[in-house]
Amino acid sequence: MTDIVKTAAVQSLLDRASGLTESGGNPRLKAILRDVLEATMGVIEKHDISEGEFWQAIDFLGRGAGEFGLIIPGIGIEHFLDLHLDAKDAEAGRTGGTPRTIEGPLYVAGAPLVEGDLSRTNDVNLTTDPDDVEELTMSGRILGPDGEPVKDAILHVWHANSKGFYSHFDPTSAQSPFNNRRRIRLGADGRFAFHSRMPRGYSVPPGGACDQLMKLLGRHGDRPAHIHFFIEAPGYRTLTTQINFGDDPHAHDDFAFATRDGLLPIPDRSGGNPAIVFDFVMQRAQSADDQHFSSRPRAAA
Ligand code: DHB
Ligand code: FE
Repeated sequence: MTDIVKTAAVQSLLDRASGLTESGGNPRLKAILRDVLEATMGVIEKHDISEGEFWQAIDFLGRGAGEFGLIIPGIGIEHFLDLHLDAKDAEAGRTGGTPRTIEGPLYVAGAPLVEGDLSRTNDVNLTTDPDDVEELTMSGRILGPDGEPVKDAILHVWHANSKGFYSHFDPTSAQSPFNNRRRIRLGADGRFAFHSRMPRGYSVPPGGACDQLMKLLGRHGDRPAHIHFFIEAPGYRTLTTQINFGDDPHAHDDFAFATRDGLLPIPDRSGGNPAIVFDFVMQRAQSADDQHFSSRPRAAA
């Protein structure tokens, strides 16, 4: 195949197209765009992509734009961001604690902030809509690296209902705002407990762009049932993680690559309804930045 990307003419085109020959603009963006463009040209060349194929891809991206948040985890990039952070942590000697795993596209900021200090209150109820499936309880502790209880944590929790739909994104519009979403303010002992209704595994919207892409790849768009968490606490590094139910048929076949060792508890059904006991272990913050959320844009209500 004729290889023209490395020719002076194309290299000059890349410099000009990405603004490197101009003094204004954002230098980091210019450098990144230049590499994205060069890699794209390399792919066109390597696979001898036709004009028709190329414009079909652009058309797909335009029509699928509303599902980019779903497609990115589905093609493994959101998991790769975790692997990239893990590798940087390992290099810096920052190991230990509960593994991070993807946030996913379905968090909504502004969920009710409720009292969850178990010395003053009972457990927290997440499900405020009728949902006629078995009750799920989850409890545990938020611990630091030396096994100490983490004080004054806020546990953000969100999950799907028994049909696999998340409030705010529910195509049936059946759920009230913030159903299955809470921010739980914990006490000095780091203990948490909540009850809810058993979620079903999530599937991407049938016929949507993500579903179409998965079918073209010979894949599915299903996740095991799971519960998402952000945990923030003064002096500790904000943790983004989720538990996936270890006995779900998709526990080891998650289209979003979010399941990880240590995050696949099997609910205990010996008391009838499923119950999960799970302790989270946070890392200590090394900078103020560690205590912030990423700058990812998020839905708010
Ligand atoms: C997707 C959905 C989820 O509920 C999740 O946790 C991660 C990804 C998705 O649709 O891609
Ligand atoms: Fe999810």
